[in-house]
Amino acid sequence: METKVEVLEKGPLLVHGTISITHKNGDVETKKRTTAFCRCGASNTKPYCDGHHNTSGFND
Ligand code: FES
Repeated sequence: METKVEVLEKGPLLVHGTISITHKNGDVETKKRTTAFCRCGASNTKPYCDGHHNTSGFND
């Protein structure tokens, strides 16, 4: 399956497909479906989106 990236208006960056994520502590995680990455900076679970863009006033 091709990996695709989708930018949601006023929301996260979605990555569709299997990806490998290397975290800042060096841990590597594999995601196999759709992964939502925070674009607004308000998430408590960075690099992932936790829905806080809905209440943070993010408007991009
Ligand atoms: S984009 Fe969803 S919490 Fe930041």
